[in-house]
Amino acid sequence: MEKCRFHEVKVSAPSKVILFGEHAVVYGMTAVAASLDLRTRMRIKPHKSRILVNFPDVGLKESWSPEQLKTLFQHKPNTEILDVNYVYLDLIHNFLKTESSDLRMASVICFLYLYSLIMDEVGIVPMEILVESEIPLGAGLGSSAALSVCLSAGLIGVLHQVQGYEKSIFEYTSSSIQKEVCGFAFLSEKILHGTPSGIDNSISTYGGMCRFEKGNLEPVRLERNLRILLINTNTFRNTKDLVERVGEKRVKYPDIVKPILESIHAISEQFLTSIQEYNQDLNEKKFYKILEDLMDTNQSLLTGLGVSHPTLDDVCRTLKKLGIVGKLTGAGGGGFALAVLPPSISGKTVLVAKDLLETKGYTCYQADIGVNGYVIEVVK
Ligand code: PMV
Repeated sequence: MEKCRFHEVKVSAPSKVILFGEHAVVYGMTAVAASLDLRTRMRIKPHKSRILVNFPDVGLKESWSPEQLKTLFQHKPNTEILDVNYVYLDLIHNFLKTESSDLRMASVICFLYLYSLIMDEVGIVPMEILVESEIPLGAGLGSSAALSVCLSAGLIGVLHQVQGYEKSIFEYTSSSIQKEVCGFAFLSEKILHGTPSGIDNSISTYGGMCRFEKGNLEPVRLERNLRILLINTNTFRNTKDLVERVGEKRVKYPDIVKPILESIHAISEQFLTSIQEYNQDLNEKKFYKILEDLMDTNQSLLTGLGVSHPTLDDVCRTLKKLGIVGKLTGAGGGGFALAVLPPSISGKTVLVAKDLLETKGYTCYQADIGVNGYVIEVVK
């Protein structure tokens, strides 16, 4: 392979869904989240002279010459420090002539930031990056984390080839590479969201299911697949406002709100106990009955916190008429609802549910949870 050339790299990373514990997790209590098989896919190909990014989902195509980037990258911070350097970030904004509020450009900003750090040792390598995603953007499913993980894993994949460590890319599951990918992706998330919890980039890197509490992530063993139906209410919501709303209520009515949050925490813990029992010998029917009870109660508690929405209530009611239990997932106030589909539910009932919901203007996605984290492949 001639210097600075590499074979095409294909990488994909999953989105995430919160099963239990939203809002309570903000106060140090337990949440349970899992990877979701709606993925972001990226291809990085060599290019003869330029560095080109193509994000058709957001209608973005930009390219630069190595000379242009060389001038910008002179100011890049020390690679060892994975904290956002705001002076450098401002320089990237100026270089792109974009405001920090331009969400469409956010992915390009993260690309330039990560590219300058990851490719540091080998200089500027011309390449073309194409990103496509099955994940609805900005809906609380971790679309930005999946992009960040793809950028981080994909660029490390190119770097290792250019450095002649080609073999290491096939050991993408080695814990040191995973840790590096997760670290750069976390940096990218901080560029995008300020002070994220780290749950989204961790799930997207490692996949599976996890327990999350006070910033600590603990993998949860899941021996059998869980099928879920995700319903987008197509109602815009703002996570920050909803978190603030719960915070205000907690201050105003502590004796009412704290027990609600503690009950949500207890639901997450009960779910984790039941999963363990299910992994061992708990009968499938009993497990799904507990799961339905927990989902139903959690939805009522979230309604009590004031974070449900008429569309979410409508989705849950519609599903219930067909014997399916749903709850909101994420911040609430619109966004997504989720329903676990027990094996006993027939394909026909699921189709009827989807039809009914889509006629009402909602969008349904059926997907597995607890799937692999990022997957990378070198195309020869
Ligand atoms: O919809 P999302 O992914 O933004 O979910 C937010 C989950 C909350 O618990 C409400 C907030 C948080 O930071 O954990």
